[in-house]
Amino acid sequence: MAISDRVVRELNLQLNREIYSAYLYLSMAAYFESVGLRGFSKWMKVQWREELMHAMKFFDYIASRGGRVELYAIEAPPKDWKSPLDAFEFALAHEKEVTKRISNLVELAIAEKDHATFNMLQWFVNEQVEEEQSFEEVVLKLKLAGNDTRAILFLDSELGKREVSAENESSGALQD
Ligand code: FEO
Repeated sequence: MAISDRVVRELNLQLNREIYSAYLYLSMAAYFESVGLRGFSKWMKVQWREELMHAMKFFDYIASRGGRVELYAIEAPPKDWKSPLDAFEFALAHEKEVTKRISNLVELAIAEKDHATFNMLQWFVNEQVEEEQSFEEVVLKLKLAGNDTRAILFLDSELGKREVSAENESSGALQD
């Protein structure tokens, strides 16, 4: 069954939002660099790569179904946050919004009886559980740390150990 124009349009919009997510986290990486928290910045740079991988999954899927990939303008992300906690709470709210959008896409695939798109989206349904969890974990730790500079610096060195996931590394999406 051919993919519908409506589904292609919505998938292209999501591709755009994934690139926006990448952009948002790169902006957060810049913010963390500016306040001397290079571990937090590294964590966000890894997240930027993850989001680009998400975008490429939509790109490749649309193309594989014979749809036309369209690239829309990318909104400029915010630049400053009040604190690391403020940034991570902003990011967590953003991820919850992404989860809603993925759910809406799933609903559309069901309504259109587009089983292939439904199937592809299941990866994102699972991924969003992990995404919310990983941001939430940092939010909770930052709340525990409060204004304790030593705790924040300890967290900074912990978060700096994050590496690009094996799937992202091997997906080839960013190397083509
Ligand atoms: Fe692409 Fe962070 O969800």
